[in-house]
Amino acid sequence: MNVAKTIEEIRRMVAAARAAGKTVGFVPTMGALHAGHYSLIAAASTACDFVVVSIFVNPTQFAPGEDLAAYPRTEETDLAGCESRGADAVFLPSVEEMYPDRPRTSVHVAELGEGLCGASRTGHFDGVCTVVAKLFHIVAPDQAFFGAKDFQQGAIVQRMVSDLNFPVDIVLCPTVREADGLAMSSRNAYLSPGEREQAPALHAALRAAGELIRREHPPARQVVAAIRRHIAAHAPDGRVDYVQIVDPATLADVETTDPPVLIALAVRLGKARLIDNVLVD
Ligand code: PAJ
Repeated sequence: MNVAKTIEEIRRMVAAARAAGKTVGFVPTMGALHAGHYSLIAAASTACDFVVVSIFVNPTQFAPGEDLAAYPRTEETDLAGCESRGADAVFLPSVEEMYPDRPRTSVHVAELGEGLCGASRTGHFDGVCTVVAKLFHIVAPDQAFFGAKDFQQGAIVQRMVSDLNFPVDIVLCPTVREADGLAMSSRNAYLSPGEREQAPALHAALRAAGELIRREHPPARQVVAAIRRHIAAHAPDGRVDYVQIVDPATLADVETTDPPVLIALAVRLGKARLIDNVLVD
């Protein structure tokens, strides 16, 4: 496995793979890799001949006061993990390599980024889209793999790619969970043992809500209330940022729960802000 620290190096590696007739799969990450990330690398290896993983904690997607400085950095373990999962190249740029000068350009996808996580994370999705656009230009993959855990991010990137004619297919892969249902996340490392015990309540609440919708199609506000009650009872230290039921295509709130609907939530637990969702279709 090759490690590239500069844009020029990764471009050279991808060009060599292309010259050998290989298809290129790409998995963008911020590192602190876990089984969720590795499932994307596995999907990329199955679909493509040459797999590139990027590890870059992108400062422009963190709002002031968020966890940029504290974000876990586990470079050595990440590189070993990528190698053992069959990645062919890892792009590991510095902040200076990606942003040598204060950028004047950014990518903004209207509407899709306003609700859900966008409401409390000002500028977050502009930072995500801009860095993903840069990475797509640098790596020029045929396919790029994203996780359904960040459903809104996947929808926004998909929209950017179709609006701006990026020649890349976006593949959304299922959320990988701990045995007790907690969605794997680099930010789970922030949880104290007591908070970690409460955290599975988020997915349990979503799962129960999914079953309720399949059974009875109740009004969305009733389902939201049931989820909030479940979290209050089983994760008493949780502070709900949002619980919403939205149309998975537009991410706009729905009033009736005729599938397909996406049930999505964000809950702060100690230092962690945990997100999860369930698609009912
Ligand atoms: P990061 O949070 O490191 O996630 C990288 C990719 O892994 C994303 O596509 C995310 O949805 C996916 N992922 C995370 N947890 C997962 C899980 N439990 N199951 C399946 N997939 C999971 O998302 C980002 O980084 C950044 O915003 C990035 C796209 C790299 C741009 O900076």
